[in-house]
Amino acid sequence: GKVVLAYSGGLDTSVIVPWLRENYGCEVFCFTADVGQGDVETDGLHEKARASGATDLRIADLKEEFVKDYIYPCLRAGAVYERKYLLGTSMARPIIAKAMVDYARDVGADAVAHGCTGKGNDQVRFELTFFALDPNLHIVAPWREWDIRGREDAIDYAKKHNIPVPVTKKSIYSRDRNLWHISHEGDILEDPINEPKEDMFVMSKDPTQAPDTPEYVDISIEKGLPVSFKVTQSGDPVGAEFETMTPATLLAKLNELAGKHGIGRVDMVENRLVGMKSRGVYETPGGTILTLACRELESLTLDRETMQVKDSLALKYAELVYAGRWFDPLRESMDAFMEKVSETTTGTVRLKLFKGSATVASRFSPFSLYREDISSFEEGSKIYNQADAAGFIRLYGLPTRVRALQKKKSDQ
Ligand code: ARG
Ligand code: SIN
Repeated sequence: GKVVLAYSGGLDTSVIVPWLRENYGCEVFCFTADVGQGDVETDGLHEKARASGATDLRIADLKEEFVKDYIYPCLRAGAVYERKYLLGTSMARPIIAKAMVDYARDVGADAVAHGCTGKGNDQVRFELTFFALDPNLHIVAPWREWDIRGREDAIDYAKKHNIPVPVTKKSIYSRDRNLWHISHEGDILEDPINEPKEDMFVMSKDPTQAPDTPEYVDISIEKGLPVSFKVTQSGDPVGAEFETMTPATLLAKLNELAGKHGIGRVDMVENRLVGMKSRGVYETPGGTILTLACRELESLTLDRETMQVKDSLALKYAELVYAGRWFDPLRESMDAFMEKVSETTTGTVRLKLFKGSATVASRFSPFSLYREDISSFEEGSKIYNQADAAGFIRLYGLPTRVRALQKKKSDQ
């Protein structure tokens, strides 16, 4: 048979190639997705995969699709897992797994394999996507089967099978990077008492070393999705013309800008799907300011009840994405709601970036529900008549008065 393997060219996935051939007697087709992790060595990768014994390798550039069809829906939904996590790894797994299913179909493979451990979330995300898109594929997860226990075992195995040991420099952390974020887990982070070391961070500067002067950025949003941005001076008019850019370009540039100001670091202990707690540190510079900007615009465009319903659905949405249920009809249906509810989330938000924080300086929307003439402390519009408030409060507070009267009676 033939198997498609999620392949990075690192030690673990290089060893999986001969292991699959030895244990399953199949041809191995390697698959590498470019989701903006930045270290896809496209040149050497084909030779590397062949040196490990692979029949072929496909490299797919998924960057634009990843931002447009996976990151943006989550952003529009306001999806945040356990109060802090912007789901960077969770969103990437379904797009990679989907592309693997396509590759399997193209080469006539009947199996897929991945290098996720048996303790994590990623195995679930890959496999639920395989189930959803092609339930007949066999799934092989070597980490749940073999007796390779660590780096030394893997090197021994490679040597025994005459596979060159990849010279990629191995981080002490377990990391996952893409256009949205980088995650760090393992090593000293495994004890939640330890503060992360500064040299661990990749996408964001130490906030204390960030520029001493703030920068302003105008973010242009259409229907809940960012379309462009520009760095501005505080006195520039809000909403002046924006340059058009693709989603992946916009995000890459915002990562640089926000990262330079030390924005987007999150340190948390989270509940994994498999039941255990896990400590992780995330850097999501561009995503953090985009999340803030979208939320801020909604404060102008969504009424109270709509915002409450949207926020309550966002919790469930985040949970589904975290749990690998991207292709569930439930998430897709919720997405239809998010699209509809965001129809008027259009406008510009100006943020001030300074030493690790982004604060809102200005917001504007042509669909704003805010009316200065109604809200002002100055007497203005006739739409609101202060005398109406007396009757409103008496009726609104009717249950409160009835309860108090009842209590007074029973106290006697
Ligand atoms: N804990 C995060 C999540 O479950 C990050 C996982 C990182 N994965 C990795 N293979 N390093 O989404
Ligand atoms: C892994 O176990 O493969 C990485 C961590 C995770 O999936 O949560």
